[in-house]
Amino acid sequence: MMPSDCSDSAGLSASVPGGVRAVTRCDVLGQAPFSEEPDRLFRPYLSAAYRATSTQIAAWMQAAGMQTRIDAAGNLIGRYEGLAPGAPALLIGSHIDSVRDAGRYDGMLGVLLGVELVAHYAAQGRRFPFALEVIGFGDEEGSRFPVSMLTSRAVAGLLREPPTDMQDAAGLSLQAALSGEGLALEQMPDAARRPDEILAYLEAHIEQGPVLEAENLAVGVVTAIAAQYRFRVHLQGVAGHAGTMPMTLRQDALAAAAEAILAIETIAQSGPPDLVATVGQLTVAPGVPNVVPGSVVFSIDVRAGEAAVRNAAAEEIRKALEALAARRKVTLDMSLQQDLPATPCDAALTDLLGEAARTVTGAEPRRMVSGAGHDAMVIAALAPVCMLFIRCEGGISHNPAEAVDPADVDQAFQVMTRFIEDFAGRRP
Ligand code: GLV
Ligand code: MN
Ligand code: MN
Repeated sequence: MMPSDCSDSAGLSASVPGGVRAVTRCDVLGQAPFSEEPDRLFRPYLSAAYRATSTQIAAWMQAAGMQTRIDAAGNLIGRYEGLAPGAPALLIGSHIDSVRDAGRYDGMLGVLLGVELVAHYAAQGRRFPFALEVIGFGDEEGSRFPVSMLTSRAVAGLLREPPTDMQDAAGLSLQAALSGEGLALEQMPDAARRPDEILAYLEAHIEQGPVLEAENLAVGVVTAIAAQYRFRVHLQGVAGHAGTMPMTLRQDALAAAAEAILAIETIAQSGPPDLVATVGQLTVAPGVPNVVPGSVVFSIDVRAGEAAVRNAAAEEIRKALEALAARRKVTLDMSLQQDLPATPCDAALTDLLGEAARTVTGAEPRRMVSGAGHDAMVIAALAPVCMLFIRCEGGISHNPAEAVDPADVDQAFQVMTRFIEDFAGRRP
């Protein structure tokens, strides 16, 4: 293992293997002030915890030899120049934000591995014919505003019309959240990069599933990322007195939602194994023990490796919800919030990453489709992308029990160094 060497403002040891230090730093960032909540990790986009985290990572980036900036969408970017200043960049990264009650490694590990890679090369004084840029995306999870990937969409140039109608759970608009950080909604599209500035994008991420562990492999190579839909469903019934309203006359929005959720589960269970559907958020109004619920709003997340499978399932779900809403005399409003297409990773880059993995691990690289969404699926509109998965314990993610073996992460670090050097070798 090659030690990385850079000074460390968090007081961590300066000479530990890169992958190991990336894990230790994820652990440092797993609590206040890097979390909005004292007892669990929640780091939504543009929150105070998000700002504290960006500031800390920027300090680590600078210590590693990078120049840092916050772009117009609030992403953190560190740049390590190539042999000639201003050269196009190999972009490496993942996301800084988290879900509520998150694990410490989802997203963050890919960002901090990027920092370690630069620290490793800067310590040797080694530069490439391209710059290395490390990016911490601000909003991958969509855990604050109703959609996800806002900030990678801005970088990929896909956010030409920034959303003006978006609010978080506290009613604060995206515009207000941005201006709280000295940013402006109308300038968000300025985060877009030109295709000639970015040669390729490399993202390392925990697998968030059990396959690598089951096959006793430290790392795997992603071939494609599944298509995603996110819907908002509003069922409107009639609120009434819980003691006086006969069961036969009720228009109970929550009972309708319960039937809807089970129908969604049944539809997903009847499809191929990569078809998944989830209701992860539900709000009941008025939410009082002695009132028949009048209104329920819930989310549906539907994913599959192929868009056609996802689309057919979504259509079946819509029909099932329409039928039960009519039978239960509640009104249904099902609106599409987000459509992320299935995204193949770049074949040539993926082969190169696979070769690097083969060289480092001595094993045939496991190729796999990602059911989880990643910034790479959006950045693919800007540049060729590839992804390296790292084994995580029990396949558990979006859960504070998320865990990685630092030795696996250090293998990933070595695969990434090999990839960067091979990538340099193949460029004229
Ligand atoms: C992000 O973690 C997603 O897959 O929703
Ligand atoms: Mn996640
Ligand atoms: Mn993630």
